[in-house]
Amino acid sequence: MLVVEHPLARARLTTMRDARTDSAAFRAALHELTVMLIYEAMRDAPVRIERIHTPVARTDGYRLANPPLLVPVLRAGLGMADQAHKLIPDAQMGFVGLARDEETLQPTPYMESLPEDLSDRPVLVLDPMLATGGSMVHTIRLLANRGATDVTAVVALAAPEGIQLLEDSGLPVRVVTASVDERLNDSGYIVPGLGDAGDRQYGSV
Ligand code: URA
Repeated sequence: MLVVEHPLARARLTTMRDARTDSAAFRAALHELTVMLIYEAMRDAPVRIERIHTPVARTDGYRLANPPLLVPVLRAGLGMADQAHKLIPDAQMGFVGLARDEETLQPTPYMESLPEDLSDRPVLVLDPMLATGGSMVHTIRLLANRGATDVTAVVALAAPEGIQLLEDSGLPVRVVTASVDERLNDSGYIVPGLGDAGDRQYGSV
């Protein structure tokens, strides 16, 4: 697990946590935080060398050897998708749609759009919140069933309970987050957290 504790990441996360932050400012802070999380998540990505000409000389350039598949988990993960894609324009994007049953806290799938074969492809799953871990485990199972072995969960906030569930699942996943918070409350919200990441971005529907 990688906790990105850069001061700029902490400042964006503070804006997102603050209950006074409106939707537009929340989305902007999540966009900027996403750039920082993706940047760190890709730090060790393999590169291929490409000979290029600058206006002055020939030199070695570098390109991603194997651009990842980006998988935002709808709805809240949508707010991370564009920024991740801007940073990795060669990436392909898949989608998983999950609603949370507010009584059982179990994920209810309503959409799945993923390539058939994910062997040899790194995958970045985008979801602002790793809370109970149920949605993340569900999503990574879908990916693992298609052969994925190199999966990174990119989340703004994580709860210890969610991290534990991921570890216990035995699934191949690494977590990159800006914070591991204290706990979940009885309603499954991360404490201190930031509230409902979907509602904070898009308003409650
Ligand atoms: N999902 C959210 O949006 N917020 C939480 O605190 C937990 C799950």
